[in-house]
Amino acid sequence: MSYERSVSAPEHDLQPETVWHLQMPQIRCGRDAVEELAFQLADLGVSADDDPHGLVVTDEDLVDIGHVGRVTDHLEDAGYNVTVWDGADREPTIENVDGCIEFVRENEGEDGYDFYVGFGGGSCIDVAKTTRAVIANGGQVLDYIAEPTGGGEALTDSGPPLVLMPTTAGTGAEISPVAILSVEEKEIKEGISSNHIRADAAVLDPTFTTTLPPEITAKSAMDALGHAIEGYTTHPFDGLLRASNPESRPVYAGRTELTEMFSEKAIELLSGNVRTAVHNGDNLEARAAMLKGALFGAIAGLTAGASLAHAMAYPVGNRYHTYHGETIAVLTPASTLGYNVASDPERFVEVANMLGADTDGMGTREAADQARQEFVRLQQDLNVIPSGLEELAGVTEEDIDWLATQTVETQQRLLRCNPRPVTKDDAADIFRDALHNWE
Ligand SMILES: [Fe+2]
Repeated sequence: MSYERSVSAPEHDLQPETVWHLQMPQIRCGRDAVEELAFQLADLGVSADDDPHGLVVTDEDLVDIGHVGRVTDHLEDAGYNVTVWDGADREPTIENVDGCIEFVRENEGEDGYDFYVGFGGGSCIDVAKTTRAVIANGGQVLDYIAEPTGGGEALTDSGPPLVLMPTTAGTGAEISPVAILSVEEKEIKEGISSNHIRADAAVLDPTFTTTLPPEITAKSAMDALGHAIEGYTTHPFDGLLRASNPESRPVYAGRTELTEMFSEKAIELLSGNVRTAVHNGDNLEARAAMLKGALFGAIAGLTAGASLAHAMAYPVGNRYHTYHGETIAVLTPASTLGYNVASDPERFVEVANMLGADTDGMGTREAADQARQEFVRLQQDLNVIPSGLEELAGVTEEDIDWLATQTVETQQRLLRCNPRPVTKDDAADIFRDALHNWE
């Protein structure tokens, strides 16, 4: 029992958690699912008969490539009025979201649009989630960022329907209750975490993912695999403290039998199809498997809780502006599949086998270490993943103290779920280990 991982229970009520719950948007997934977007909106109560105005939040590349046109044509044909805001940046800042919010208020006033569609990678989706939340709750983005960076106010209203359509297979932002934003002047990322920021529906169509270049395909897949593996190896929900009431139960609440099933399938789908998706991007079957694998990984990991690799990835991303997926890729061998293995070697033997390692005849500890070996081999096969933090961003020994300090001081939201406690010195050792995953 990890009593120090208190969530909200007062000291006189130190009981293990007994209840888990799963909260998800409606999900539609499969080839040409975009053709059901209008139906989805109607099902959420936005009828074309009421002359509704909606906003598609996306980026310029997706407009240029024609994908956004497919979405807006479909909606307009079904009788919906749609405006496109295509200003989402990669790893968006608070200022970037403020730009979208300003656009909404200028065009539609304080009440905003009748519905929102977030279309793109995790960045577009996080801008869409935050925009709807701030319009619905009033004020500005900073009001809802945790103290001391922001005002720490809680979201109390979800606002009008939000449908998210991911065009990468990775972040899981389409179903998660979190939006991640960069705070530029502080070199940190902050998450707004609330069930009110979660979308009402996710529509996943693999036909939008065949144009993803190999590098983004590979790096997004590593993020997805990270969610699945971190979710599979995090604390069981009943090893965490009981929430004093259902409302105070954290969104990352430990693994359950349900999240384990999703993790297992996700690891199988992702590790079994990523080589094909990267090296033969037109293969729609592999792309569909990746999109489904990323969704399942998110259902598992973003319910049970992402942990160590994610906690370490945010300081790295903030300082070096590295892509989230590649940061997770580089950190996972030393953290999730390195440092954490000692917490429960048998469990990591299972992970090794799910990743395709042959552990027959090995002792438990040796077999558990095969998870890391197999993961590194997979990354080498993809041929676009940096060999470690040094190659990723020129990280050296001198940078490690800052990174380790930031990890333990700013990422307790994630470290709380880690199956093995992490001190600053531990974090420094893991960063050191991650400088070079292979020669
Ligand atoms: Fe992630």
